[in-house]
Amino acid sequence: MNKHSILLTGATGYVGGRLLKVLEAQGHTLTCIARTPAYLRSRVAPTTRVFAADVLDQETLRPALAGMDTAYYLIHSLGESKGFEEQEKIGAQNFAVAARESGVKRIIYLGGIGNEREELSPHLRSRHEVGRILRDCGVPTLEFRASIVLGSGSLSFEMIRSLTEHLPIMVMPQWVSVLAQPIGIQDLIGYLVLALDVQIGTSEIVEIGGSDQLSYRELMNEYARLRNLKRVMIPVPVLTPWLSSLWLGFVTPLYARVGRKLIESIKHPTVVTSNRAHELFALRPCGAAEAIRAALENEDRKFAETRWSDSLSAGTPRSYGSYHIL
Ligand SMILES: NC(=O)c1ccc[n+]([C@@H]2O[C@H](COP(=O)([O-])OP(=O)(O)OC[C@H]3O[C@@H](n4cnc5c(N)ncnc54)[C@H](OP(=O)(O)O)[C@@H]3O)[C@@H](O)[C@H]2O)c1
Repeated sequence: MNKHSILLTGATGYVGGRLLKVLEAQGHTLTCIARTPAYLRSRVAPTTRVFAADVLDQETLRPALAGMDTAYYLIHSLGESKGFEEQEKIGAQNFAVAARESGVKRIIYLGGIGNEREELSPHLRSRHEVGRILRDCGVPTLEFRASIVLGSGSLSFEMIRSLTEHLPIMVMPQWVSVLAQPIGIQDLIGYLVLALDVQIGTSEIVEIGGSDQLSYRELMNEYARLRNLKRVMIPVPVLTPWLSSLWLGFVTPLYARVGRKLIESIKHPTVVTSNRAHELFALRPCGAAEAIRAALENEDRKFAETRWSDSLSAGTPRSYGSYHIL
């Protein structure tokens, strides 16, 4: 394994926070940027540098990017109330220019799986647009695209966990049958780390997923099975994703903004359609049951290592109600 000089963005977030610990353990020279550096400084190793920077302000990025060979772009603004597509676009453009001018050799970005031939939700459309900006910026960029991430602290997993734990009877709109290909957080981090040294000529898109394709409903069933919970799921085909997401936000304020955007984005299957990950990487990801089991073991600890709600952009989490509908 080669040692790298790495700029890590999104280290206060769910994926970036997990990656941070692994990169530190591997002994790379690590620099993080954060909008609230004081908060992050208390969570990093003494050898890790933390710069105050915001991707919406290009000048703040340059000092942090100086001398870096690799940059991880793990930023998104799911919690921002409006204009998030424009903000994500500007952030990616600023980062792309600053990375190129600083001589960065590789950008590694994690976005979302979605078939561009279908109508993408604003959330997925923005993930793809960010990827396009980075891939086209002149720095070879590896864009991973993933579906649901299964891990303690992940927004999608926490929604599944919360609903299945609290509701003996769940009303299920049709969209919960949409197929996904969830990936366990350990495997996801594995890909992100291996991406440091994998051979790529130019920019690439690599779809990644676990070994199972299943729907949100099947995921909840699997979760209930592993937790020995008896759950009744009643299909309600008339409830549109938009209405059900409004209702979800109403009864589960914790997910009010971010959960709604996530649910509105579940329109089409998010499954791996290319073999590129197998060609490039020796990693063979586990299935959903194993990933849920690993997340549950982590849940037994007092706190998950990082949670989506830790990031500033998630908004302020609040307590949630006792009756939910998806
Ligand atoms: N988690 C999943 O289930 C999942 C699934 C598939 C793909 N992904 C992709 O993985 C990537 C990371 O997701 P995540 O779940 O780790 O996100 P997250 O927990 O919401 O974290 C987002 C990060 O972005 C940072 N950020 C937002 N706006 C910023 C700005 N203007 N300048 C600097 N930093 C800013 C946040 O920092 P602050 O603390 O300052 O807000 C935070 O560290 C995203 O591209 C996402 O699409 C995630």
